[in-house]
Amino acid sequence: MKIPLFLHLLGVIVWVGGMFFAYWVLRPIAAQLLEPPIRLKLWSGVFSRFFPWVFLSVGFILASGLYMVMQMGGFAAVGLYIHFMFALGLLMMLIFIYVFFSAFKKLNYHVAREEWPSAGATLGKIRLLIGLNLILGVVTITVAVLGGSV
Ligand code: HEM
Repeated sequence: MKIPLFLHLLGVIVWVGGMFFAYWVLRPIAAQLLEPPIRLKLWSGVFSRFFPWVFLSVGFILASGLYMVMQMGGFAAVGLYIHFMFALGLLMMLIFIYVFFSAFKKLNYHVAREEWPSAGATLGKIRLLIGLNLILGVVTITVAVLGGSV
């Protein structure tokens, strides 16, 4: 179980750590220093590079998580905290899929046409959803680590 757990945690670190960096480090400084056209192009480029890593992380998290559940005897045999982790993880993945296939595509569409107000509004939506996923990620880690011991 060491290797699946390692892959699971690697995925969690890349995904949640990446969201933390984007939200709490890059976002405030980009908002302070850059005018909308450059800022919106920056975010479109940042997401283009980050989201493929999120897809890879989601694949690792889901495959390793389900493998560990099977090794532990299936969902009927595992603790409630694993069910919570699974439910919260699926919710995070659904939010990401929505961001990728809807909001991010829309952001790129408006950026390509230099429609800055619409691009800004779409970026605001992505910011909210990434903020929500960051909170869900921290809650999920808390449930995963403390859930088995309480
Ligand atoms: C969505 C499907 C997921 C499944 C099926 C799943 C399943 C599991 C399983 C079976 C373990 C091993 C637990 C143990 O040995 O007691 C585990 C560990 C862990 N999972 Fe998940 N997980 C999922 C998603 C997530 C997500 C989205 C996060 C965080 C954002 C996460 C964070 C963790 C952490 C931090 C551990 C290590 C807990 C520890 O060893 O103390 N998991 N997961």
